[in-house]
Amino acid sequence: MASGSEPVLEVRDLVKHFPLTQGILYKKQIGAIKAVDGVSFDLRKGETLGIVGESGCGKSTLAKVLMALEQPTSGSVRIGGRDISKARGGELKRMRRNIQMVMQDPYTSLNPRMTVGDIIGEPFEIHTDVAPKGDRRKKVQELLEVVGLNPDHINRYPHQFSGGQRQRIGIARGLALQPEVIVCDEPVSALDVSIQAQVINLLGRLQDEFGLAYIFIAHDLSVVRHISDRVGVMYLGKFVELGKDAEIYDRPAHPYTQALLSAVPVPDPEGREQRERIILQGDPPSPANPPSGCRFRTRCWKAQEICAKEEPLLQIRPGTAHMSACHFAETHDVVHAG
Ligand SMILES: Nc1ncnc2c1ncn2[C@@H]1O[C@H](COP(=O)(O)OP(=O)(O)O)[C@@H](O)[C@H]1O
Ligand code: SF4
Ligand SMILES: [Mg+2]
Repeated sequence: MASGSEPVLEVRDLVKHFPLTQGILYKKQIGAIKAVDGVSFDLRKGETLGIVGESGCGKSTLAKVLMALEQPTSGSVRIGGRDISKARGGELKRMRRNIQMVMQDPYTSLNPRMTVGDIIGEPFEIHTDVAPKGDRRKKVQELLEVVGLNPDHINRYPHQFSGGQRQRIGIARGLALQPEVIVCDEPVSALDVSIQAQVINLLGRLQDEFGLAYIFIAHDLSVVRHISDRVGVMYLGKFVELGKDAEIYDRPAHPYTQALLSAVPVPDPEGREQRERIILQGDPPSPANPPSGCRFRTRCWKAQEICAKEEPLLQIRPGTAHMSACHFAETHDVVHAG
């Protein structure tokens, strides 16, 4: 999987605030929704970074800024050393070839009036140099085969496929331009559990075959476990913990990660007894008005006075081998069942 090569994606201090306005005729800005609020990471060739957090914590906004579908408020997203948020025209088009997206919901993300051939081949209409017109049908059929679909079904419509097959169509479209990076925004959340594993296995196989790097977004830690080399845990627009997959799962240092892991159901009744269950109370606060100091403090059972006053920085803490943002970070061994 991950190699020690140069990063394909370098994200630094990325911020995306949406203006919060009042009034209809004379719109007045009364604040900002801090959807992404200072995110930094590198992604290497062939690596998978899993990004996990509750709904509304900024995962999709982060994905859109990486794809240059939204302009950042500040910070940078470098692909192959160039900042995609500053690129325009032909340069932006060339850079976009290298970063593609697989969307969350295969039922709504595919145009129902287009054949799968047209859906998968659509990127070739914009990037005409990748596949000359005469080669497109053959290329699309190859892509169908690569994702495990029947190439003879090229003229069928999305409704003629199951949810898992539709997600394969979305993946084929993501592969069409041979990108180095694919951003998968909750690619299996809308699928049955039995189908989720098949789609994750397919993504793993394609990664090995084509050396792809993935950003794999999910709201559940158990989903990203098997595909991720590293995991970033997001809370209200920031990473609270970031490190190697095994470190995060077996020795989480941040109370939020510990709570998320504690919520993962354990099928084995013996395992259940060995575990201390931490139940997260309520919902995250609004990203328009995050708590002072540590953003997690309103739900944290370890919070002390300093947590309201000083923001804990994301850094390696004594006794841990990965980064976490907590004044009282300490690793907590998790006993996993099975
Ligand atoms: N275009 C937008 N305008 C205003 N607020 C937005 C917009 N997109 C997302 N948000 C807000 O930003 C926050 C993060 O949303 P999102 O990135 O979709 O989170 P996630 O994908 O983790 O569920 C939410 O509070 C959401 O309502
Ligand atoms: S800094 Fe304080 S409030 Fe934040 S996670 Fe750590 S103990 Fe909890
Ligand atoms: Mg989302």
